[in-house]
Amino acid sequence: MESDQEQIVEEKNLAKCRFLNENFLYHCRDKTVLEIGCFEGHITEWIVKNNPSKLVLLEAAAIPAKYVSRKFLDATVIHGDMHEDLDKVGKVDVALVLGVIYHSHAPLHVLEELVNCCDPTTIIVIICRLGLIGITKLQIILVCDM
Ligand SMILES: C[S@@+](CC[C@H](N)C(=O)[O-])C[C@H]1O[C@@H](n2cnc3c(N)ncnc32)[C@H](O)[C@@H]1O
Repeated sequence: MESDQEQIVEEKNLAKCRFLNENFLYHCRDKTVLEIGCFEGHITEWIVKNNPSKLVLLEAAAIPAKYVSRKFLDATVIHGDMHEDLDKVGKVDVALVLGVIYHSHAPLHVLEELVNCCDPTTIIVIICRLGLIGITKLQIILVCDM
C-alpha cells in the first residue's frame, strides 16, 4: 500500500508529465528526439506516446540506464555523461534537457556540445528543477538559429 508521501510524489510526477505533454512534447511527433537525464523513464513514457521517429536517451547513472534500455526497446540508450558523450548522439530535431542541467558543473559546456547535435530548426527544451519538488521554476524553449 502506498504511503501518503508516496502518493503525493506520484501525483506531482503525474502533474509534471501532463504539464510537459501539453506544452512541449507534441514537438516530438515524427521527430528524432534526445532526452538527457531520463532517470527511469517517467517522462520518456510520455515522449513515446507522442510517437517520435527516433528516441535517444542519455543517462549517467548505470542502473537507470540499464532499466530504460530494457523498458524502451526501440530507443537508443547511451549510458554516458552530458559533458562528454553528446558527440555520440548525432543530429536531433528535439532535445529535452529536463531537470538535469542543474547537476552540471559546466552548463555552458553542455549547451555548446548540445548545439553540435542541433540543426537550425532543432527545438531545445530546458527545464530546471523539475525533479520531485513541483512544477518548473524556469522554462526556456530555444529554437536554434545558427
Ligand atoms: C533529477 S533527475 C531528472 C529526471 C527526469 N528528467 C525528470 O525531470 O523528472 C536527474 C537525472 O539526470 C541524470 N544525470 C545527472 N547528471 C548527468 C550527466 N552529467 N549526464 C547525464 N545524465 C545525468 C541523473 O542520473 C538523473 O537520472
